[in-house]
Amino acid sequence: MCRSCVTTTEAPNWWLTPPAEAPCEPGASEQEPSADRPTGWDRALVRFTGEVLHAPEADAGGQNSPTLVRFSDPAGLADWVASLLLRERLLRPERPLGLATGRTMEPIYASLVRQVKGLTPAEQQELRKRWCSFNLDAYMGLDRADPRSFAAEMTSRLTTPLGLDPEQVHLPDGQAADSHAAAECYAAQLAAAGGIGLQLLGLGLNGHVGFNEPPCNADAPCRCVELNTATRHQNAGAFGGNPEAVPERAITLGLREILAADRLLLVVTGAAKAEVLARALQEPPTAELPASWIQLHPRALVVADGEAAALLDARCHEGESSV
Ligand code: GLP
Repeated sequence: MCRSCVTTTEAPNWWLTPPAEAPCEPGASEQEPSADRPTGWDRALVRFTGEVLHAPEADAGGQNSPTLVRFSDPAGLADWVASLLLRERLLRPERPLGLATGRTMEPIYASLVRQVKGLTPAEQQELRKRWCSFNLDAYMGLDRADPRSFAAEMTSRLTTPLGLDPEQVHLPDGQAADSHAAAECYAAQLAAAGGIGLQLLGLGLNGHVGFNEPPCNADAPCRCVELNTATRHQNAGAFGGNPEAVPERAITLGLREILAADRLLLVVTGAAKAEVLARALQEPPTAELPASWIQLHPRALVVADGEAAALLDARCHEGESSV
């Protein structure tokens, strides 16, 4: 029977618990914070108001990931995901946080800022001290101060409101004269920082994650890529609605760095992404749909709103009724 499709309202705690082999805290449990952890850690998770639609078998250690969580309430989704990011930063600062930009992330970052402002000044200070993030991607040819750049987006949504040191909020250098060298340099910087702990991901309409455009294999490294027409259309909103104004190239972390993260957190909202999400999760992994490679990751969590999860629901329920 389709056990994994049984809906529950319990938070996916197996995913929240750090992997036993986590290089940062071997054997540590979130129930037992060490003495030097900030006291805010245990408040840094808002109440879970979603439903778990699909979960790995309890004893499989996440091997048949991804876990799928649906929220009918957009604010509940944003708050819970933001609290995961905050908790990650407070509990496991040893590895960088992997961050994404885009419309999906806007309410999440707004909630993160609100939640941080609810911490005590000492906790906020601790968070600032511990902050280290690497963004997935950046357009080539845009000045960091250009409001359409992902660097500017990070500055206005997180760095400035949280009072972070910009040096601790890493993005690829979209202005480098040698984009290939800049991509290699970014990968080396990330490797030197220990690789990504938790990687937040959005989903492109064509199945990209970061700017890993199809076709893209699971071992594609951080590199400079050409953006395809669908992506330039999808992202035209920030460029006055003109796809031609969207830069033609970008630097992106590859599937290699993304899949090497301890944990993946893919967030998908809106009806327009229902089809691509269903394909990414329910069809065999393929280079034609780069997001589908996350099926290979043992600790992947997908958080969707009702609209984005609509086709997953249908297929899941079809599966249940057939057994
Ligand atoms: C963009 C970015 C991704 C982003 C995704 C979804 O092109 N490269 O990092 O997560 O596509 O964007 P949005 O949330 O705006 O739909």
